[in-house]
Amino acid sequence: MAKTKSAFFCQSCGFESAKWLGKCPSCGQWNTFVEEVIEKSGALKSSWKSSNGSQRLHTPSKVQDIETTEMARIATGDAELDRVLGGGLVYGSVTLIGGEPGIGKSTLMLQLALQLKNLKVLYVSGEESEQQIKMRAERITSSPSPDCYILTETLTQNIFKQIEALEPDILIVDSIQTMQSAHVESTPGSVSQVRECTAEFLRYAKETSTPVFLIGHITKDGMIAGPKILEHMVDTVLQFEGDRHHVYRILRSIKNRFGAAAELGIYAMSGDGLREVSNPSEILLLQREEELSGIAISATLEGARPMLIETQALVSTAAYGTPQRSANGFDTKRMNMLLAVLEKRCGFRLSTQDVFLNIAGGIKVEDPAIDLAILVAIISSHQDIPVSSKTCFAAEVGLSGEIRAVNRIEQRISEAEKLGFEKVMISAYNYKGLNLKKFNIQIVGVSKIEEVFQHLF
Ligand code: TYD
Ligand code: MG
Repeated sequence: MAKTKSAFFCQSCGFESAKWLGKCPSCGQWNTFVEEVIEKSGALKSSWKSSNGSQRLHTPSKVQDIETTEMARIATGDAELDRVLGGGLVYGSVTLIGGEPGIGKSTLMLQLALQLKNLKVLYVSGEESEQQIKMRAERITSSPSPDCYILTETLTQNIFKQIEALEPDILIVDSIQTMQSAHVESTPGSVSQVRECTAEFLRYAKETSTPVFLIGHITKDGMIAGPKILEHMVDTVLQFEGDRHHVYRILRSIKNRFGAAAELGIYAMSGDGLREVSNPSEILLLQREEELSGIAISATLEGARPMLIETQALVSTAAYGTPQRSANGFDTKRMNMLLAVLEKRCGFRLSTQDVFLNIAGGIKVEDPAIDLAILVAIISSHQDIPVSSKTCFAAEVGLSGEIRAVNRIEQRISEAEKLGFEKVMISAYNYKGLNLKKFNIQIVGVSKIEEVFQHLF
């Protein structure tokens, strides 16, 4: 009898070991090793096709001899997705779409499949039945593309058989964790299965120049489940995020071999699918008549896209011994840092106060230029003095209370001007190279926290 071969895999980073280990030497996590059966065969080298095609031999070529062709891209008809992909879908690319369960990954991909009218799209689902997918499709559109095919199958060899017969232009796999290859014995979702299935889809994409989308679930700690290894294999990693209780969803590019990373697309989840949000600032700014304390507006930039977002803070005396600190859409550690700066540099006694922070729309902001708005919102709430709703902020705050310059300040100022703001507060260090005459908005440059307060309160 043939001996089955097994190995131990770290479920967090995919590190392989011949024996069980308590701590992963690669990612340092504890208790993540699980034994998986892997069959030793020529399987890993086999082609995606059932009939093994002859392998093309690559020879080295001089870099100047390699012809460059403008990369052909497919416009998906979804402006947000096209932007995040770097200007459309590249032939032969493999894109991983990660996100928590229920965030809308299947909806987004099905919507794409249904709207690509003159391309043959194969949507492979290992999660839902044909009827379920049909019901979802009916919610999304009343005029689906005539060339959208649904296949409910999990064994990759069977999928490739159907692909050979159908020859789709685009392949969507929902989800990679439900797929199973006959070449590997372990269960679907295990590191070795996910790795083998991804490798097979990757070979298929490269050999036939077909774009492939893989949907992947994310574990609680934000990792594309569990093996991080998937991220290294594919060309593009997109993350679909947002608060399930809010309508807004963000599609963020984490890695992109064909465009800029950190690009961002915004959608709103409605009763009939995901709607593109082309002008986020108008939604993220709540229009109100009266001015309230604890609110400041930040001119942030996500990817190449300027967005004005409302930040809200509530500072109140702690009812119990240890004050509470909680932030929604902003890093709590960074909030604590800002509070410490305020305490140390400006003498505000915040250590006895509860501080709650919220970014409008359930959106997570990573741009450091939001610091100043958050700081102003905290002080505005603490002092109970409102800040004019016609003022916005764009600067980073340093540990010694200095107001630091941020990138692409002109773009931020233009967006603020376009939305009718009267004043924008930036770092004085951002003045260099800035053409002030160009703007029709008051620009205030500050270099220290004290100046911010002198100006506002
Ligand atoms: P789904 O795409 O199944 O999420 P995922 O594949 O990421 O797990 O969709 C999740 C939620 O979206 C689900 O709770 C229902 C909701 N939804 C709408 O609100 N409107 C719609 O038109 C559709 C199709 C789904
Ligand atoms: Mg799904």
